[in-house]
Amino acid sequence: MVQLRKIGVLTSGGDAPGMNAAIRAVVRTAVFNGLEIVGVKRGYNGLLNEDFIEMDARSVGETLQKGGTILQTARCAEFKTPEGVKKAVEIAKKNSIDGLIVIGGDGSFRGARDLTREGLATIAMPGTIDNDINCSEYTVGYDTCLNTVIEAVDKLRDTSSSHERCSVVEVMGRGAGYIAIEAAIACGAEVVLIPEEPFDFRKDVIDIIEQGKKRGKKHCIVIVAEGVGGTVEMAKKIEEETGIESRATILGHVQRGGSPTVRDRVIASQMGARSVELLLEGKSNRIVCMQHNEIVDVDIEEGLNMKKHISKDLIKLAKQLAI
Ligand code: ADP
Ligand code: F6P
Repeated sequence: MVQLRKIGVLTSGGDAPGMNAAIRAVVRTAVFNGLEIVGVKRGYNGLLNEDFIEMDARSVGETLQKGGTILQTARCAEFKTPEGVKKAVEIAKKNSIDGLIVIGGDGSFRGARDLTREGLATIAMPGTIDNDINCSEYTVGYDTCLNTVIEAVDKLRDTSSSHERCSVVEVMGRGAGYIAIEAAIACGAEVVLIPEEPFDFRKDVIDIIEQGKKRGKKHCIVIVAEGVGGTVEMAKKIEEETGIESRATILGHVQRGGSPTVRDRVIASQMGARSVELLLEGKSNRIVCMQHNEIVDVDIEEGLNMKKHISKDLIKLAKQLAI
């Protein structure tokens, strides 16, 4: 077994608020345990380009409260090839990097698994606003993103109500509806459309909006997950079929920014610290994740193959409270 002397940390894929808190926890736990630590810039690109920065406890000062990632992030096509992975491991070894911590989503985790197969110890932890990592109840960035979404939708509700309009709001989430369903409950949306739940446009959208109007509602909020899409066309169709003026808003990348919430700072700190501890314990090819509200770790391959579902109770609750 390699005696651990120096480790690296990178952020990969879409950024998420709380990534800096995770980097800070990794760096300080490494320093606390007498390890050298380097930051790898721009995800897997930095490994291939030897773009490293030496880090110490002070290099992560004043970062806990900042959104984004101080290491920058990227998507790297070259790394996805077997040659790219081999080259990355050779470069890590040349630079005496004995282990790597990867903060990102499931694409980044596949990269970490490939690095382990080629002989570099890796630990991955979930940093993505989408909350779509199957082995984890929570991903760093999700709570901050939801808070950004509800702030925006609350504002849209003001103007929708004044104009007696329907506001159709598209939220991120890639192929998953986690952001949409929780935002819908937190904002009191009349309708929520997620990719996991088939819907009938007449029954689940138009009828609900018309019934709401009859009951005296002054506005209508429809939350659409980006995995469902068609938001602009949907607003037009709603206006045509109900006669209620409708406007589409695509919230977009604003959802990825901002100072992380307490929940994101604390979970990022716990997961970042645990990642380093796992390397110190001689473990590799693990995902640090949350299960039953505890920070645990699972094998990367097993973690990627796990299944997670949007709670049917949440879907029911969103409908029940929208009357
Ligand atoms: P996320 O980590 O947020 O899911 P991506 O899917 O874009 O984001 O993945 C980030 C990076 O991880 C990619 O640019 C690539 O370098 C690496 N990656 C993604 N998928 C794979 C894969 N199947 N095998 C190896 N590396 C991958
Ligand atoms: O995975 C995070 C995420 O923001 C998704 O919700 C979204 O589909 C995607 O990344 C957007 O990626 P990009 O920043 O490349 O536009």
